[in-house]
Amino acid sequence: MRRKLIAGNWKMNMFKEDGLNLVRQILSHVEGQKLPFDVLVCPPFTLLSDVCHAVNGKVFVGSQDVSVVSEFGAFTGDVSAKMVADIGAEYAIVGHSERRAGRGDTDAIVQEKAFNTIEAGLIPVICVGETLEEREAGKALDIVSAQVRGSLPKNVNGTVVIAYEPVWAIGTGKIPTLEDVAQMHNTIRAVLTEMLGPDTADQMRILYGGSVKPGNAKELLAVSNVDGALIGGASLKADDFWAIAATQL
Ligand code: PGA
Repeated sequence: MRRKLIAGNWKMNMFKEDGLNLVRQILSHVEGQKLPFDVLVCPPFTLLSDVCHAVNGKVFVGSQDVSVVSEFGAFTGDVSAKMVADIGAEYAIVGHSERRAGRGDTDAIVQEKAFNTIEAGLIPVICVGETLEEREAGKALDIVSAQVRGSLPKNVNGTVVIAYEPVWAIGTGKIPTLEDVAQMHNTIRAVLTEMLGPDTADQMRILYGGSVKPGNAKELLAVSNVDGALIGGASLKADDFWAIAATQL
């Protein structure tokens, strides 16, 4: 039985005090509870250490990216997976479409980042998803299957998380039909099974991301093979984030 993962991707938002307030509000729902799902927050690098300290192990913390390079060196501006692990985080998002499209992350780069993330003892959340043009051309299943094949590193294990995020659904308020979500998640599971065998593939969580809101979370999270949500905009408000999580109580 896969435990659902409710993950917040704060993107490039939050000064320190606001971020810590948000985390405190999330903690007020989590503390003393035995939740049937995992909670993950992914603040910007500037707040990772403070947030790790504040949550004190009660919710998981992840970075939004890691360097493609794993060892120390002259890579100005980069932060390695080992450095993220060193401050106590447990996860790292890799291959978000805002980095694939906006920062040149190819499948090969995402694969290397995911490899380094696992080597560092972190769990990667590997993002995949098609553009609107690709969906309208009927290519969504092929494109996403190819991204999964091209982005999974060879040290993958059952803890690794995939996030299916249609690019056209991110920040737009649009979501695919539940049938399309089911078809995509079933396809991703089939690709994972083919690549890794059923034992590993069955353990891996496949999140849906893209305009997840309190009003649509329950139905999205009830779809077959949807093992959680990666939430952008709605993760910046504790009430909305928790309303989404609370659909799983
Ligand atoms: P959104 O972002 O929830 O604001 O659509 C999701 C994401 O990019 O992870």
